[in-house]
Amino acid sequence: MTTTAEKPAGRKSVKPEAFDIVAIRSDFPLLQTQSHGKPLAYLDNAATSQKPQAVIAATARYYTNYNANIHRGVYKLSADATAAYEGAREKIAQFINAPSAKEIVFVRGATEAVNLVAATWGMDNIHSGDEIILSEMEHHSNIVPWQLLAQRTGAILKVIPITDTGELSLEHYQSLLSDRTRLVALTHVSNALGTINPVERIVAAAHARGIPSLIDGAQSIPHLAIDVQKIGCDFFVFSGHKLCAPTGIGALWAKHDLLEKMPPYQGGGDMISTVSFAGSTWNEVPHKFEAGTPHIAGAIGLGVAIDYLTGIGMDTIARYEHELLTYATEKMEKISGLRIIGTAPEKAAVISFVMDNIHPHDIGTIVDGEGVAIRTGHHCCQPLMDRYNIPATARASLAFYNTREDIDRLAAAIEKVKEVFA
Ligand code: ALA
Repeated sequence: MTTTAEKPAGRKSVKPEAFDIVAIRSDFPLLQTQSHGKPLAYLDNAATSQKPQAVIAATARYYTNYNANIHRGVYKLSADATAAYEGAREKIAQFINAPSAKEIVFVRGATEAVNLVAATWGMDNIHSGDEIILSEMEHHSNIVPWQLLAQRTGAILKVIPITDTGELSLEHYQSLLSDRTRLVALTHVSNALGTINPVERIVAAAHARGIPSLIDGAQSIPHLAIDVQKIGCDFFVFSGHKLCAPTGIGALWAKHDLLEKMPPYQGGGDMISTVSFAGSTWNEVPHKFEAGTPHIAGAIGLGVAIDYLTGIGMDTIARYEHELLTYATEKMEKISGLRIIGTAPEKAAVISFVMDNIHPHDIGTIVDGEGVAIRTGHHCCQPLMDRYNIPATARASLAFYNTREDIDRLAAAIEKVKEVFA
């Protein structure tokens, strides 16, 4: 059996009162497994999410039933693969309220999307002495591409500092905006703190001075309903794998006129209109940015992941996760010797913490022995760790399929850590 465009395969729209956590958990094969002989409590969702059976099945269906290259064949298999791939692009556009699917560029993930913008739009528009505003809480993937660009062009990076609670200093931001500012590139939600930044206000302040903005949505899109038109930004980037989709697929959204003006990122097949040794011309947007055979199964899986999440409802997910975060925060605050890093009033489902005289890696190793998976380290945010004068944190990051029991298991495992180090 072949399919034309992977019709929605997820749950039918669930009303908030009908949020059935048992049914949702049963959609995720990996959540049924054990770790070290104990039921798995997976609390590393900011690193990557688990995948529902619908997504796993959709990628298997592509390889089993209609595996073929896209945009190239006149035969049915290729047409089916193309329809499913382009159908996924449409689903992404709807999911983030992009005006057109032509504004969605498939990439490997948020990291590649930022690099794409830096290497194309950045090289065309940023020159010596120009300034790019970032923040102290950026992931390395929204720092290093701009550093590379700055090295090539002579541009200067300006950094918005954060407060002790992990909020951006908006006053300082205003003072950084200048006639030399060419871009504001900012994370929507901090992967290491959970802070939800007021991106609409930040983008509006930049636009008031004619400055474009890029929002890194890698950590917001799994938790919040995204509307790029409401945010008002010019570029929005995200990874699929944090959104219940396969690794190696993500998207760049950019306004159409920007994509039209930007030069190609990589050269190769599919991104061209004509090629001769005298010169080549480019395919239309967005294909101009998609050289070579893409991650077809990944794109299809991402489309199905979006169907699945839409079926539950992103607002429902946000509400449930907020309750879970409140429960987890209260529970963790009661543990003596534990300090939460990142206590902004507006937070997504992340709890980073440190413990007196215990290295985060020891915390991670001991709780792992209890079947609880958390991440420890600098979370690809070394400047942020420097800000707090710590080398690392332990981080529990939640998803809509986590439960209060997962949190209780984490708290009990932390008590074990304390016993070991008593
Ligand atoms: N950026 C991902 C994290 O925060 C990998 O864990």
